[in-house]
Amino acid sequence: MTASHAVHARSLADPEGFWAEQAARIDWETPFGQVLDNSRAPFTRWFVGGRTNLCHNAVDRHLAARASQPALHWVSTETDQARTFTYAELHDEVSRMAAILQGLDVQKGDRVLIYMPMIPEAAFAMLACARIGAIHSVVFGGFASVSLAARIEDARPRVVVSADAGSRAGKVVPYKPLLDEAIRLSSHQPGKVLLVDRQLAQMPRTEGRDEDYAAWRERVAGVQVPCVWLESSEPSYVLYTSGTTGKPKGVQRDTGGYAVALATSMEYIFCGKPGDTMFTASDIGWVVGHSYIVYGPLLAGMATLMYEGTPIRPDGGILWRLVEQYKVNLMFSAPTAIRVLKKQDPAWLTRYDLSSLRLLFLAGEPLDEPTARWIQDGLGKPVVDNYWQTESGWPILAIQRGIEALPPKLGSPGVPAYGYDLKIVDENTGAECPPGQKGVVAIDGPLPPGCMSTVWGDDDRFVRTYWQAVPNRLCYSTFDWGVRDADGYVFILGRTDDVINVAGHRLGTREIEESLSSNAAVAEVAVVGVQDALKGQVAMAFCIARDPARTATAEARLALEGELMKTVEQQLGAVARPARVFFVNALPKTRSGKLLRRAMQAVAEGRDPGDLTTIEDPGALEQLQAALKG
Ligand code: PRX
Repeated sequence: MTASHAVHARSLADPEGFWAEQAARIDWETPFGQVLDNSRAPFTRWFVGGRTNLCHNAVDRHLAARASQPALHWVSTETDQARTFTYAELHDEVSRMAAILQGLDVQKGDRVLIYMPMIPEAAFAMLACARIGAIHSVVFGGFASVSLAARIEDARPRVVVSADAGSRAGKVVPYKPLLDEAIRLSSHQPGKVLLVDRQLAQMPRTEGRDEDYAAWRERVAGVQVPCVWLESSEPSYVLYTSGTTGKPKGVQRDTGGYAVALATSMEYIFCGKPGDTMFTASDIGWVVGHSYIVYGPLLAGMATLMYEGTPIRPDGGILWRLVEQYKVNLMFSAPTAIRVLKKQDPAWLTRYDLSSLRLLFLAGEPLDEPTARWIQDGLGKPVVDNYWQTESGWPILAIQRGIEALPPKLGSPGVPAYGYDLKIVDENTGAECPPGQKGVVAIDGPLPPGCMSTVWGDDDRFVRTYWQAVPNRLCYSTFDWGVRDADGYVFILGRTDDVINVAGHRLGTREIEESLSSNAAVAEVAVVGVQDALKGQVAMAFCIARDPARTATAEARLALEGELMKTVEQQLGAVARPARVFFVNALPKTRSGKLLRRAMQAVAEGRDPGDLTTIEDPGALEQLQAALKG
């Protein structure tokens, strides 16, 4: 048995012993009385009775040993700015933000919605919420008003923290009008909106509701805000993600389990040491940003580099220039970013001094072999694929190099991480599949610390969605297909549900369909994810127009396609905009009226549509084919 198998086996055979040891990585104000309580499965509780605080562990705890060490580097190639905050400075900023939130009447358990570009104040706001026991809900800045409104309505925040604008590839993206529109659409009204003015865009204020961050920050200078100690299972945050229905799910995370899980992963998976610098090129709006821009590196006493910008501006060497400049030791990105770089001059990979860099982690979507080889050979550094989800909060599959550098297998993110009792199961019977047979990637409970504790405000949905998806077996479904080989390496083969993955961004096809349907020109629509060489997948829409005249000529179709794309862009954001909208007279359905999405996806990818015995009207698929060709 290899070392990582031994650690994995022990974590499952003796979860209480294993996780009790890991729990020593963080400070507890009150020690826990019980490591694991699974008596109300699947509502697992870790470190029962223990009281701790994420902000204390990420910031205050390090003041004794590393007050003057950098904690947060921020670089924006959008605004040509850079700032570094030591742990002492980070503590001061977070304390001020916490004082401001308290001044705006935020109490323990209240939600604070953070709709922010990649600026330090976003991290301050997250940590400040953790400090005072408020529950943050960060909404990706690339989402627009309808997406944002759905999240405001569900999270019911007391305060929203936002900014005048973000910037993407040199183009200013005003946030405030989108936020105002979202609040207008929402039945829930936040009491206050705290605004960071970057002076990038005009920012009309709503009297009595909108507050200025800079003015408040001056006012609260020097105010000490103690950490509010939370029972381990009390929520730290809610992060919305897409699923099968149009309504996003609020993934709720606990406090103590998350802190322990991240601290453990920083060593066992990411090989991080206190004083290291980690550069996670993601966004705080996604789980990778929560875990490995903000909380993970800080819990481990590292410096984190937060980057506002793209991988190719001002040039294709920017990421590596940052590695050299900030002596980055660990880097984390997504395969799409590497595929983007692959189109640039390969000389960028060798132009800078990358001697500080030890490992490059990639996650969020399948890592194809050519991309893995290209970056690994180009950098001469190990590339570590890792597979996980918003729901898990930290890697489920990885080569756990902090335990042992098992040989990687291209195309596989590796073996199950300690704590995960991962099974490949038959979708119809729930029985475990033998090696080599494709099935659903599932996890037998209890889930390890750090994983979602429930769906925010909807325990039933948590059980129904995740724990009753596989028949005859109470297990957590990842909604991914997978296969295990004889050595225990798992290969991920795509989603079992209607979630698509565009450039590492997780999107629900139902949300896009609902948005398209809101346009009066649309009678019926289906959206599927279609393979794309650069983005992994793109959304493609097949649409039946209400008025045939609007699709009668090529010009008319082009105009309507543009209009529909705009609808999605305005409602959900540019990330969700379909790559193409095709017009048809019928959609392929079963005789009971269910859309044949998999057949549509196959046809759109030029593959065989497979079993069509249940199809109502075979002509509909032919039409689809014709539309794609035209
Ligand atoms: O389908 C899997 C894919 O991304 C989904 C989770 O996306 P999200 O909730 O945004 O969390 C991303 C955290 C890294 C998964 O269900 N996925 C993620 N990582 C990989 C992957 N597919 C293949 N290989 C991966 N390494």
